Amino acid sequence: MMNVGIIGAGHIAEKAATTLAAMDDMQCLAIGSRSQAKADAFAGHFGIPRAYGSYAQLLADPEVELVYIAVPHSFHFPVTRDAILAGKHCLVEKSFMLSATEAAGILALAREKGVLVAEAMWPRYMPVRQMALDVLGSGVIGEPKMLSASLAYNVSGKERVLRPELGGGALLDLGVYLLTFMRMYCPSPVQKINTTCVLAPSGVDATEQITALLADGTLVSLQASGWCQGDNQGVIAGTTGYLVFDDLINPTCLRVCRKRHIVEREIPVPPQITGFEYQFRACRDAIRSGLLETPQMPHAEILYVQHLMDRLRGEWGE
Ligand SMILES: NC(=O)c1ccc[n+]([C@@H]2O[C@H](COP(=O)([O-])OP(=O)(O)OC[C@H]3O[C@@H](n4cnc5c(N)ncnc54)[C@H](OP(=O)(O)O)[C@@H]3O)[C@@H](O)[C@H]2O)c1
Repeated sequence: MMNVGIIGAGHIAEKAATTLAAMDDMQCLAIGSRSQAKADAFAGHFGIPRAYGSYAQLLADPEVELVYIAVPHSFHFPVTRDAILAGKHCLVEKSFMLSATEAAGILALAREKGVLVAEAMWPRYMPVRQMALDVLGSGVIGEPKMLSASLAYNVSGKERVLRPELGGGALLDLGVYLLTFMRMYCPSPVQKINTTCVLAPSGVDATEQITALLADGTLVSLQASGWCQGDNQGVIAGTTGYLVFDDLINPTCLRVCRKRHIVEREIPVPPQITGFEYQFRACRDAIRSGLLETPQMPHAEILYVQHLMDRLRGEWGE
């Protein structure tokens, strides 16, 4: 049994707590909030034994081994730094940090202190990732030439998405999944990248198109928006067919298609709690093996995506 502490009693922390409550090899031992009343209510709702009215109190609990950091992007850096300095292993929500500079600093500190740091980029840890790689490796769709994906939810009413000082914008919230999708299935280096973006009145990126040419000649087309609802599919087109992910982040099935939308194979994804359990287990396994990063989400990969996001945000004037 590994004891997890959750920092930030917000929206995604609820999903993490639900997941941990259903796992038999990990448990949420403590919740840390800036408010004791909020921590108490959260702990009561999810049956969490310890409720702390500050993040520092949670970090001082010697029985918390892994800290799941679920606060707005602008607080990922200071909270993760404090957690590392307290000797805790950390699973940090996406996007990992605001910039590649912050990310490099955190990863260096974690290495120095000998603790694991991982990004909670959950599609990287799911079984569907290997299932899709197996389809691609089988050659059934031929040689991939195009990847297209979109991810759009109307989350424009959320403070942390809307406000620049909280690290708002569609890229850090949603676009990061698209870049991850590209990196997981078409990992050839980005040779050229072009982008167009619509800014929200607050100055954050609301809706964006990203086109990338990869070194192996694959053309990638990505669209993200925090201001509308999209179909949120991903498609990898090869020389003899295409592979469809019915949901970019958490697919229910993979569809292998040939010409004229003929579905050749439909591959269901195994039953899951919420899909978050895989990232928690990956952290536990890595920690038990004495690793400082998870094999599913290596630090070099976190940095690669952070650099791409710096480049895009720089072009948009963010
Ligand atoms: N993996 C996924 O599917 C997924 C989905 C949504 C979000 N996320 C990620 O999870 C993180 C949190 O997102 P969320 O939607 O859970 O956010 P949220 O509900 O708006 O906020 C999370 C918590 O952060 C804490 N916080 C600390 N300082 C804050 C401040 N100045 N303003 C507001 N909140 C502050 C608050 O907890 P206390 O008041 O208890 O201290 C708040 O409840 C983000 O990095 C986001 O990208 C991941």
